Amino acid sequence: MRWACLILLMILLTPSTGWGQEKGASPGGAGAPPAAPSPQDLQAGKRIYQKWCMNCHGAQGDGAGPAADFLRPRPRDFRQGLFKIRTTQSGQLPSDQDLFNVITKGMPGTGMPGWEKVLTEAERWQLVSYLKTFSRRFARASAPPEPIRIGTQLPLSADSAAEGKRLFREIECFKCHGDEGRGDGPSAPELTDDWGAPIRPANLRKPWTFRGGHTPEALYLRLQSGIAGSPMPSFADSLDNEKTWHLVNYVMSLWQDSSGNNPPLQVVLKARRVEGEIPAQPGEAFWQDQEPFYYPLVGQVIREPRLFVPSVDGVQVQAVYNDRELALRLVWDDPTNSKADAEQGTFEDAAAIEFPVQVPPGAKRPFFLMGDAELAVQLLRWGSSSGMTELNGNGLDKLQPQSESSQESTAVGEFQNGQYQVVMKRPLRTVNTAQDIQFETGRFIPVAFFAWDGSNGETGGKMALTSWFYFFIEPALPKVTYVYPALAVVIAGGLQWWVVRRLRQTKMD
Ligand code: HEC
Ligand code: HEC
Repeated sequence: MRWACLILLMILLTPSTGWGQEKGASPGGAGAPPAAPSPQDLQAGKRIYQKWCMNCHGAQGDGAGPAADFLRPRPRDFRQGLFKIRTTQSGQLPSDQDLFNVITKGMPGTGMPGWEKVLTEAERWQLVSYLKTFSRRFARASAPPEPIRIGTQLPLSADSAAEGKRLFREIECFKCHGDEGRGDGPSAPELTDDWGAPIRPANLRKPWTFRGGHTPEALYLRLQSGIAGSPMPSFADSLDNEKTWHLVNYVMSLWQDSSGNNPPLQVVLKARRVEGEIPAQPGEAFWQDQEPFYYPLVGQVIREPRLFVPSVDGVQVQAVYNDRELALRLVWDDPTNSKADAEQGTFEDAAAIEFPVQVPPGAKRPFFLMGDAELAVQLLRWGSSSGMTELNGNGLDKLQPQSESSQESTAVGEFQNGQYQVVMKRPLRTVNTAQDIQFETGRFIPVAFFAWDGSNGETGGKMALTSWFYFFIEPALPKVTYVYPALAVVIAGGLQWWVVRRLRQTKMD
């Protein structure tokens, strides 16, 4: 179990690969595939496969390596010759270059790593040759697969995106991807892939999770060729060149950042001081003006019960305060609005913010997973059925709601089109000083985030989480003295990153 967790950690911490930055693939670059691989190439490919790929894809290429059960989507079973990321027409095999590219870049949003930095080009070509031996389709093919021709590109414009939006409804992309593209369409809960496993439609607003990258050309190819093995069909029959570009443009118009890259992680969540009332409604225009901070979440795999495939993969947080209260707005995507129902055995959706009860001096902090015997934490938790609750914890199994009379926080939460928006409010200073953190400006306060998707069976310790970050309530007038702690935090953050990288490297050696 330990090594499985380590592999998982390694995967989750692997930065997303370079599909997105590139202008399409560079076919036929140096070291093109050998026309007919020599027995030596196949032998070499097999050796490399056994060293780097077998733990996930299985010795027989059946996708059943020892790590497979912890991954969703599962590692590919190569025996059917079905490949998702192709430049070839619907129903056809991938080109050798397609296989080379996917091995090189990996598949964002899945356990499939990119191998560009680990294996040489020649080694990746040897793997292409070896992988093709797992399926008879390759040897049987009488002609090479036909490539999709990408016609003249229509540049992204408001008109083109609007036409794409119309097509998105007309040809029913929304049935799987949802009205606003968050993967929450009416058909989404029932979808399975060709191997019988449940599969989620992509959240079109998170292009950094697209399996084949998110360049305009990549999107064009996915629409034309479909994603083999998944329910995502080819639209080659209904979309000509122009319509395909309209849809590509619509999808790209949904992105918060036009680069399509994942939002940068900021170590310090800052709360800004505002004058006057803070709106309690999460939909108020006020919140559009507040700086957003983004935190990626991963499954809790440290303690039983573990969660290997969390549903919520990130939360956006905004924080403000006035002279009385602190307000935090949390926004996260969850494809279903789940409610707790003891009879049906279903759980609610929820999110929580964690602070230590006492801001510890120096670098000492409670264990991030709900505290430890020595240092307690406080949770501000909002649930889709239970609403707002303040809890205290000295460990994952020692989490208790506070008494009715000391519940001083309030919240308003909304769910729409696959997204939760919740504003939580708490007085800066409270009555229950023994159990509540008392917020002070100008200090670095550890903070962590949790989310639960009830319809994914997430409850209690089965959750998505972050480890500690920092929360900083900006003083009304910033002073120079705050620069030094900020610097220390940045250096500590850098150090953590280095340790994680080292861990990964030693794991891979
Ligand atoms: C940590 C687990 C893991 C390792 C190690 C791994 N893969 Fe994968 N691989 C996956 C998963 C998971 C998928 C399926 C992703 C999906 O279907 O969306 C996948 C899919 C693939 C695909 C299918 C691409 C497509 O277009 O459908 C190829 C090819 C592939 N892997 C090759 C390799 C090779 C070669 C190696 C070794 C160098 C390797 N993988 C190592 C997890 C892994
Ligand atoms: C029947 C359901 C279904 C329909 C209809 C559908 N999709 Fe998908 N789509 C999916 C699924 C499932 C995935 C995820 C595939 C995977 O993870 O391997 C996906 C993935 C995608 C991706 C991400 C590609 C990548 O590289 O990961 C894009 C973009 C996309 N769809 C756009 C569209 C558009 C635009 C339409 C309408 C023209 C559409 N889809 C129609 C089910 C559907």
